[in-house]
Amino acid sequence: MEKNSATLNTIQREWWKEAIIYQIYPRSFKDGNGDGIGDLNGIITKLPYLKALGVDVLWLSPCFKSPNADNGYDVSDYEDIMDEFGTMADFDHLLHEVHELGMKLILDLVVNHSSDEHRWFKEARKSKDNPYREFYIWRDEPNDWISFFSGSAWTLDPLTNQYYLHLFVAKQPDLNWENPALRQEIYKMMRFWLDKGVDGFRMDVIPFLSKDTTFADFPEGRKNDLTYYANGPKIHEYLQEMNAEVLSRYDCLTVGEGFGVNAGQANLYVGKNRHELQMIYHFDHAVPRGEEHFITPAPEFNVVQLKAIFSKWDTALGDDGWQNIYWGNHDNPRVLSRFGDVGAYRIESAKMLATLLFTLRGTPSIYQGDELGMTNCTFENMEEYDDIQVKNAYQSLVFGQKKEASTFIKACNQIARDHARTPMQWTDAENAGFTAGKKSWLKLNPNYKYINAAQAQNDPNSVYHYCRALIQFRKENPVLVYGNYEDLLPDDPYLWAFRHSLEGFSLMIVANFCGEIQPFPLLNPGERTSLLIGNYKEEGIKDALRPYEVRILRCWE
Ligand code: GLC
Ligand code: CA
Repeated sequence: MEKNSATLNTIQREWWKEAIIYQIYPRSFKDGNGDGIGDLNGIITKLPYLKALGVDVLWLSPCFKSPNADNGYDVSDYEDIMDEFGTMADFDHLLHEVHELGMKLILDLVVNHSSDEHRWFKEARKSKDNPYREFYIWRDEPNDWISFFSGSAWTLDPLTNQYYLHLFVAKQPDLNWENPALRQEIYKMMRFWLDKGVDGFRMDVIPFLSKDTTFADFPEGRKNDLTYYANGPKIHEYLQEMNAEVLSRYDCLTVGEGFGVNAGQANLYVGKNRHELQMIYHFDHAVPRGEEHFITPAPEFNVVQLKAIFSKWDTALGDDGWQNIYWGNHDNPRVLSRFGDVGAYRIESAKMLATLLFTLRGTPSIYQGDELGMTNCTFENMEEYDDIQVKNAYQSLVFGQKKEASTFIKACNQIARDHARTPMQWTDAENAGFTAGKKSWLKLNPNYKYINAAQAQNDPNSVYHYCRALIQFRKENPVLVYGNYEDLLPDDPYLWAFRHSLEGFSLMIVANFCGEIQPFPLLNPGERTSLLIGNYKEEGIKDALRPYEVRILRCWE
């Protein structure tokens, strides 16, 4: 094997590469006042839990004022807190407590669109010559673009008889980044939070900011392709400006939601000398978006494809760029229900997936509840759903008679976002200890009786304790962050085996993605390995992996 010439002394260490991010979906994390909705004070009570897990950075999904058409991803005031979540004083308290515990806090920057209840939009729609008119995108005629949440991406505003663009729902009008006045308002707002001490931003659909202002119809061959909206002509100009005006002036973490960005384009956003973002996360292994996926859910991924995606990205980023690794978030159903086993091997497969999350090359983000091995919850009917995406798709497909209600519900149970949004399971008490009130805002998964944080904390073999150990291990082994990545068995249909090497030190990670024993070929005759971490208590045999078994091995040549 080729020696990796980089050494820890020559490598530039970066705290944001070494950090572990934990995503909090505030609505579902912890209710502090019994109204059934998670809130900032609730989060404060759980900070010791997060600290004990070992995470460094908390990412809060939007906590700004919002009428909640898309659960906070429709902001009506960027510099105030959502009523249901608390007050600015509560926010300041939260930030202070996070810092006291030595952690950092990043916010969700949602600036492709605002809410239609934002004062800018209320002004803008009043007249064509209103000073805020050009904060949004208006046309006399719509093109054929469609919304992520069904229907046209344009809505006619009767007062001025023009259409405004909304790539998401009509209550989420797209902001006009062509307008320098809008851009300055956004930068000012970013500085407002950073000056408060916030440690960075996760940037919502950031590749969408720049639009092709001819607003031609979808080009041939890309009809209804929602990734078409990404990487507009001025996107890098805007991000470089944002970097110069704001980001470069703070020691902050930036992670872009890389929707529509392919591996070949990634370093344009995150390359070292680009002065844009530190990292993005891609969608190549995510559940696909768009209405048509409720008609024909995408075929399941197989392990060969999954490995190919990660190799492709790792090679494309090389030493220049950096990525954020994730399995789950609030936009995908639970990863365990997708790539793992929710039956007999739930614990083993959750640990296996966690091992990959914390050892693939990139900054890992763990989504709330994945450290407990939470699973999708079956939703019986439409009333149980909350998500606007599902509701609009239902209107369009079921009322539009393109699909039977029962088959639609079946598809939702596989791909709907609400499955990751059911409340966090803290205890086996009523409402999983999420709320002291009578009812939580969204259905709880009844499996909270045995999958909950209290149980996990008391059980040394839990997924939670395993994640703690992995996080600790990652901190002690910079090879996982700065070493190179080598896929050892790209064609194996069940096993994922890779090696990281740095300064002659190498670790091998081998994972079995199936519920049966798999032979594990000895890769290098003469190579000695020793087991450092595994998800089975009893020692196994060297050349076979048990169901969902994972091992981290030290290798000596
Ligand atoms: C991002 C968010 C998603 C939201 C959308 C519109 O993809 O993660 O939850 O619905 O943007 O803001
Ligand atoms: Ca509450």
